[in-house]
Amino acid sequence: MKLGRLNHIGVATPSIEQSVALYRERMGATQIGEPFDLPAQGVRVCFVDAPNTQVELIEPLGPESPIAKFLEKNPEGGQHHVCFEVPDIGDAVAWFKGKGVRVLGEPRIGAHGTPIVFLHPKDMGGVLTEIMESPRQAH
Ligand code: CO
Repeated sequence: MKLGRLNHIGVATPSIEQSVALYRERMGATQIGEPFDLPAQGVRVCFVDAPNTQVELIEPLGPESPIAKFLEKNPEGGQHHVCFEVPDIGDAVAWFKGKGVRVLGEPRIGAHGTPIVFLHPKDMGGVLTEIMESPRQAH
């Protein structure tokens, strides 16, 4: 297993539109992507670029969304997960399973178009952790 770069920090929000305004006006963010839906994951996503990483704003697409419960507990939104890159998702999944870390589901295509999985927060010091295969080309 080779730990790669911190790709993004996931931030749940009840409104991507309001969060984009916050990052633009309070944080001075200028590089902000277009929001898009990831129906397979039940979320709408928008990336805010910082020089060394990104903030992934995630808004539920409906009441069945995996982040709906998080927003019930945190109505204002909040920090939801961190995402690290790895060179090969299959190798990483085998590594984590070998360590007894619960891998949540099978690898699926994430917001950057490469395979991702989530690791159980209880096995990761309380942090919901996303593992993402690095894009083949430069960022
Ligand atoms: Co993410």
